[in-house]
Amino acid sequence: MKTLVDGVQPTRTSSAERGSHRSQEAESSVQNTAEVLRIRGGRPLRGRVEVKGAKNLATKAMVAALLGETTSVLRDVPDISDVRVVRSLLDAHGVRVDNGAEEGELHLDPSGAVSAHIEEIDAHAGASRIPILFCGPLLHLLGEAFIPDLGGCRIGDRPIDFHLDALRNFGAIVEKLPGGIRLSAPAGLRGADIRLPYPSVGATEQVLLTAVRARGATELRNAAIEPEIMDLIAVLQKMGAIISYEPNRVILIEGVDTLRGYDHRAIFDRNEAASWAAAALATDGEIFVGGAKQQEMLTFLNVVRKVGGDFDVREDGILFRRGGDLRAVTVETDVHPGFMTDWQQPLIVALTQAHGESVVHETVYENRLGFTAALNKMGADIVVHPNGLSGGVRRVPRRELEQAAVIHGPTPLHAADVVVPDLRGGYSYVIAALAAEGESIVRNVGIIRRGYEKLFTKLDTLGADFDVVG
Ligand code: EPU
Repeated sequence: MKTLVDGVQPTRTSSAERGSHRSQEAESSVQNTAEVLRIRGGRPLRGRVEVKGAKNLATKAMVAALLGETTSVLRDVPDISDVRVVRSLLDAHGVRVDNGAEEGELHLDPSGAVSAHIEEIDAHAGASRIPILFCGPLLHLLGEAFIPDLGGCRIGDRPIDFHLDALRNFGAIVEKLPGGIRLSAPAGLRGADIRLPYPSVGATEQVLLTAVRARGATELRNAAIEPEIMDLIAVLQKMGAIISYEPNRVILIEGVDTLRGYDHRAIFDRNEAASWAAAALATDGEIFVGGAKQQEMLTFLNVVRKVGGDFDVREDGILFRRGGDLRAVTVETDVHPGFMTDWQQPLIVALTQAHGESVVHETVYENRLGFTAALNKMGADIVVHPNGLSGGVRRVPRRELEQAAVIHGPTPLHAADVVVPDLRGGYSYVIAALAAEGESIVRNVGIIRRGYEKLFTKLDTLGADFDVVG
């Protein structure tokens, strides 16, 4: 690999980054989402990569630190730009964040927490969806909060109505301003009975982060129960919260007056683990994903087996490879314990190499199959049905909103010039380019590095042939 990145990109230093020892690869992704990769494909990826803590837990646990009266220690935090956004936001609110001795260890000291200047918060507008989760903790701490308009991947409307309705239930006053939302709670927050219209991950986290210090009890029905949410509950329990759950998506929270800091190692990133597994299948390679665990990936592993992939669960990770020719499958994305929406994009690349007709129903987001157009440009045969496929039995007929992709395979993939649309779609372009014959150009790769730590180093370790050209 010849790269401009592992070593020579300029770096930015902000007050949020004091004491930082970040790798320059990761550092560069903050400013250069327009990075371009030139990839020479057609070779299997082989080797070992390690996954760290989950992006979708670490960022939330960092926000939870605001609720404690003492310093929290979070371990295995991935060095990705979403983490950096939260770190900057915490910094803007007077939370001191320092790196600990271990790689990926953060110390978060909320003792100097203050209201942030709107301009400082606004500087992060558009960068991530995590700011919405600051609402509850800031309302408890300061009685008010300003949340900028939210960014994150463009994979549907991604509204925040469940969040705002829940906060109103706790007694918050919500005002929409140009550029963001102002919240206040002059009378403090009180426990509430809330039923989510859909088991939203973010809205469940919102309720947890708000209810733990609200006056009285909260009952949350139709909650999301993703492993990252269970890990957030573990974090909050370490802080002194009282939270229990029932098997039917009901979470009960008894509010307490004070919470302390926590010491916690983040759950592994099962989205990244599934991404590397799909890369092994798509390129006919063999990848050992260090840190991956079976329990949180049962549903994914079933699909790997059905599609003709092979895996070995070991003490320290899971080895993925093809077990022979790949076979077509039908998959429906769903909330946990279903097949995660974040897994379908890399899987679809592998399905282009499977024999027969595969169908992927996307039921979580209304617009998460658009990325397949670029795969067609590379030789795939994928037809997207924007309103879903009529007929057929759906395992969980919970939502009307549905798109379906029908994939015919196997089709050889060839090189193309493609632009990354979002995090998971973008990752799937990289593995498609690695599976394809010829030299592809993948643009806007910085978007992928929002969620994949040391992407270039890992690709290099696996024997990928690529340059960073811009
Ligand atoms: N929704 C609403 N109103 C709301 C909130 C959600 O209608 O107020 C809808 C969304 O539009 C979507 C569905 O509910 O159609 C599910 O959204 P959810 O709230 O569960 O998603 P999220 O919390 O915004 C997190 C992850 C996503 C992951 C989803 C589903 C983080 C930072 N993001 O998003 O991760 O796809 O849960 O598991 O935790 C990714 O990592 O690439 C990513 C997009």
